[in-house]
Amino acid sequence: MVVPANTTAMVNMWAITHDPEVWEDPLVFKPERFLKTEGGIDVDVRGLDLRLAPFGAGRRVCPGKNLGLVTVSLWVAKLVHHFKWIQDTVNPIDLTEVLKLSCEMKNPLSVLAIPKTGVQLTRGQGLIKFNVM
Ligand code: HEM
Repeated sequence: MVVPANTTAMVNMWAITHDPEVWEDPLVFKPERFLKTEGGIDVDVRGLDLRLAPFGAGRRVCPGKNLGLVTVSLWVAKLVHHFKWIQDTVNPIDLTEVLKLSCEMKNPLSVLAIPKTGVQLTRGQGLIKFNVM
């Protein structure tokens, strides 16, 4: 096979992460598969193990991966801690996927976030900010 010069090659990570030869029951939501303590496997997500490479790999790997790894868990923890999350019955959760450049939700996730006591909401520039008092 000849790959012409200047070709942009895209790695189909979706296919790897949904391959039953790579992941057991790939379509089942099983986060414990990543926890060694729960019988799962310890995958290095920083680009060394191509079974799961959310930050890419190789020379163009994400330079912000370490910042991402520590900050994403912090803001998710803050959202879980400071809000009560309730299903939006008008727009129920729909896990249908659509494969574009990356795999996205076909219908955006819609939930109701109820601030717990001690959380002050302010609105500005189309964003809702929350301060913990
Ligand atoms: C959880 C958070 C993040 C995820 C999942 C993520 C994911 C990615 C992915 C998949 C790529 C493409 C890598 C490739 O082409 O192989 C990338 C590139 C990049 N990311 Fe991130 N990233 C995150 C956070 C960040 C942060 C916090 C920064 C900066 C502070 C950052 C800066 C960049 C830059 C500059 C590139 C382009 C690198 C290049 O093309 O040479 N990313 N990221």
